[in-house]
Amino acid sequence: MKKLPILENECRRQFCKEALMVSGLLLGGSTLSTLVSGCETDVSKVSTEPTGEIFTIDVQNDAEISKLVDGQGVKRTLTQNGKSLNNGTPVIIVRVNENQYKVYTSLCTHESNPILPPNPLDESRPDGGVNIWCTYHGSFFDPANGSRVEGPAQNPLREFTTQFVKPILTING
Ligand code: FES
Repeated sequence: MKKLPILENECRRQFCKEALMVSGLLLGGSTLSTLVSGCETDVSKVSTEPTGEIFTIDVQNDAEISKLVDGQGVKRTLTQNGKSLNNGTPVIIVRVNENQYKVYTSLCTHESNPILPPNPLDESRPDGGVNIWCTYHGSFFDPANGSRVEGPAQNPLREFTTQFVKPILTING
């Protein structure tokens, strides 16, 4: 079965929410719960097939990425040669150390809300900024591997395969 891209899926989710608001006035609880379960989506299972598209970043000459410290990340929308990484949804690029970068989708696996890159320089964050953070319901993800640290999200972030040969970071879409 063809998988829905994330943006289409977002539209489907919005449609479901609006339809349920109307139908909730007309239907009983069991019927409504059946409809709800049909509309829920595990975003970790959406659009995870590699597209074969290749994206590259010269990290030394990138104004933001070249300034990252270890454990810090940026959010970036990547479009090259008319193709968009992650269906146009921004990705989070994390500098693990000078020899390694990680790239994840920027959508939480709980309810698809946008998440923040780690920033260990931001002392105001509840975890000291060491994790990728979804502010909507407080899920945290490990920037080293995308796994859930805590919060209502259960699944890890979608991670993109990368190669880093200084100074070029190659991302397999
Ligand atoms: S959408 Fe991220 S924790 Fe709920």
